[in-house]
Amino acid sequence: RKVHHYSFIVSETNFTRLCITKSMLTVNGQWPGPTIQVRKGDTAFVQVHNHGKYGITIHWHGVKQPRNPWSDGPENVTQCPIQPGKSFIYEVTFSDEVGTVWWHAHSDWSRATVHGAIVILPARGTTYPFRKPDAEKVLVLGEWYNGDLKEIIDKATESGAPPEESTAYTINGQPGFPNNCSKETTYRLQVQYGKTYLLRLVNAVMNEEMFFGIANHKLTVVAQDGAYIKPITTDYIMTSPGQTMDILLIANQPPSHYYIAGSPFFDAGFIATYDSSNTSAILEYTGNFAPPASPPYPSLPNIRNRAAADNFTKRIRALASRAHPVNVPKKIDTKIFMTVGLNELLCPDATCGGPNGNKLSSSLNNISFVTSTIDILQAYYRDLPGVFKKDFPDKPLYVFNYTGEVADNTLYPLQGTNVTMIDYGASVEIVLQGTSVQFGEFHPMHLHGYSFYWVGTGYGNYDETTSPKTYNLKDPPEVNTVGLPRNGWVAIRFVANNPGVWFLHCHLERHASWGMSTVIIVKNGPTKETSIRPPPPNLPSCS
Ligand code: C2O
Ligand code: CU
Repeated sequence: RKVHHYSFIVSETNFTRLCITKSMLTVNGQWPGPTIQVRKGDTAFVQVHNHGKYGITIHWHGVKQPRNPWSDGPENVTQCPIQPGKSFIYEVTFSDEVGTVWWHAHSDWSRATVHGAIVILPARGTTYPFRKPDAEKVLVLGEWYNGDLKEIIDKATESGAPPEESTAYTINGQPGFPNNCSKETTYRLQVQYGKTYLLRLVNAVMNEEMFFGIANHKLTVVAQDGAYIKPITTDYIMTSPGQTMDILLIANQPPSHYYIAGSPFFDAGFIATYDSSNTSAILEYTGNFAPPASPPYPSLPNIRNRAAADNFTKRIRALASRAHPVNVPKKIDTKIFMTVGLNELLCPDATCGGPNGNKLSSSLNNISFVTSTIDILQAYYRDLPGVFKKDFPDKPLYVFNYTGEVADNTLYPLQGTNVTMIDYGASVEIVLQGTSVQFGEFHPMHLHGYSFYWVGTGYGNYDETTSPKTYNLKDPPEVNTVGLPRNGWVAIRFVANNPGVWFLHCHLERHASWGMSTVIIVKNGPTKETSIRPPPPNLPSCS
């Protein structure tokens, strides 16, 4: 078990894309930021120096951080931000994740440019449960904004209008074809005929799910969210913000150039403006050939093609081998039913209960999450009163036909910092129920501190009698982010064996900032080894 040390300098750096030069926040001047590479079982200490203008935090997305929520990162949930001029050392413990996860800023919208991959190789002395790749490559899907992100968000918050969409999607920081301004700098993935590559794909996009494919080549997905799955061979994949996938690519086509492309999947019941452009990179074989003037382009499903998204997603199954077993809890101690609501566009005025008194709001069980001023972890650990309430409801406050016709104006959410308390060791089931308030949208829901088994999913209202009969308890995938279909439900299960304060939220940045978040506190167990570790020295101060 090795200990790694990284230094992250967060600072403003100039970048030029789409013929526009602007200054943006990056780590070590790179976008995407540096890749962390470890083996399962290792620990990394990452010293984050904030040379930027605003407070910042970093989250290790998909890393469970056993008993150590202090290093988890969400701003004002597990820590106060690192102030400009200050630094903080995160201790990142890789207990049982394998494959790819990632890190990103977890304050405001800075994660748009402050993010990078985490590659977790198999533990020493073990190997992949699939054909050993000849080489590995990281691919990060992201978004470029011509404008300044902070200004975009501040403007949206003040006006109550949805924030401006990104100007382009990117692959490894490059918009690619067909944009003339960035054609020259398009990302090139070099391959040799006959070799096998492991692509480690991170979806760091802010607000849209993405389809992804490579012309004339099959993709074989072998892991998702830091856990192996049964290999899926496919022409395209669909990935939600927050998710990571490990994909085998065999360079078995005639040596030439082929486009790699990503395009958005946007499943919402309302008409909205969104960035519908594609992003691309080039798969470039080495060798002597005349490069084609226009390489083949992959055919990706249309932006509204929900069936195509489902057809891919429903194939995902845990590997469930002897070395990588599935341990789904069968008997449930704690059951939580949570409606996921969006109140984004129709609400006429400032009465709709959004944060900052504006009309944009989102909620879980009709409570729009209010960020506290002191982090919840510290308040909990030190027993400081008045920061949060331990009364998040385990079922909706209002029962209605969740996915039917909804009278929008009856559903203005409450606001509060309400958390769920769970006993150490409890077997937990959470059913997330999408609602057609505002006609509904697809929500990638993400839980910190855990990966969970995604045991069930369906359209319409969850039914306590019939829905559980459709669960997959044999080989459900173990993930940290799950796509809640528009006007549908998902059921997830996990054993609450990681004490701490853990954020649960939609990974669409718009929804999270409007309150589609909550906190789960898993209490300490009976021993020191089952309790939250003491806080590290030099925690950022909250003043
Ligand atoms: Cu990747 Cu709380 O986030
Ligand atoms: Cu959402």
